[in-house]
Amino acid sequence: MTRHPRPAVPRHVAIIMDGNGRWATARHLPRVSGHSRGIDAVRAAVEQAGRRGVEYLTLFAFSSENWRRPQDEVSTLMRLFVSALQKEVGKLKEQGVRLRVVGDRAAFDPALQRLIHEAEQATAGNARLHLTVCASYGGRWDLVQAVRSLLATSPDAAALAERLTEQQLAAHLGLAFAPDPDLLIRTGGEQRISNFLLWQCAYSELYFTHTLWPDFDAAAFDAALAWYATRERRFGQTSAQVAAPAAEELRA
Ligand code: IPE
Ligand code: IPE
Ligand code: MG
Repeated sequence: MTRHPRPAVPRHVAIIMDGNGRWATARHLPRVSGHSRGIDAVRAAVEQAGRRGVEYLTLFAFSSENWRRPQDEVSTLMRLFVSALQKEVGKLKEQGVRLRVVGDRAAFDPALQRLIHEAEQATAGNARLHLTVCASYGGRWDLVQAVRSLLATSPDAAALAERLTEQQLAAHLGLAFAPDPDLLIRTGGEQRISNFLLWQCAYSELYFTHTLWPDFDAAAFDAALAWYATRERRFGQTSAQVAAPAAEELRA
């Protein structure tokens, strides 16, 4: 497949949904109300991604490190996760959205693990939009679990060490089913990765916005896509090299 240097719409958008707590604090509300408003923003992003023809939308909802937050905030987030799954799965199914949850599921309550499994099963036949929620997820966790899984399926570790390729390792990562993200958005003003998709974001275009996640609406999503459309993706090559295939297409 030819890589076009200026694809109009990213195939895969990943979002670090940050700023819920600050959104609530600015309104003298408890942090949890920022998290529940954040779920409305998730709904808006899923709908807009579908409308714009994005094929993969990957959302960072809860990091490996977020387990270290105060116990009451962690339990509220887990309750919100449960209720969002209960309320939204029917709609996702109708909208042609396939839901996957990627992360260390063993850390979740068994009831939540069951709900996740049921939601994934219920939407497994869909392919219009692949929605992945990264929860109890960290890029380092993902790399370690990938290496463990690779070793577990390779009888000869010494031979593996000799011939291991990037593709072989990538096949064991949590997002092995998706192309790498073209566009990574982080809301909330911080310019850091916070242990999100460490391997997969090697060549993603990075878009940082001060908009807090609960305020990130359809127009904000479109603004990120418009910025993406201006980027020239070079993947290590020169500008002239990546322009060449486009010129060939014009001549054809
Ligand atoms: C993102 O918002 C949601 C989670 C990390 C679960 P935050 O809760 O980090 O909000 P801020 O960054 O404190 O404003
Ligand atoms: C990143 O946000 C994780 C999620 C959005 C789920 P954090 O709020 O946890 O990141 P830091 O701590 O500011 O880096
Ligand atoms: Mg934060």
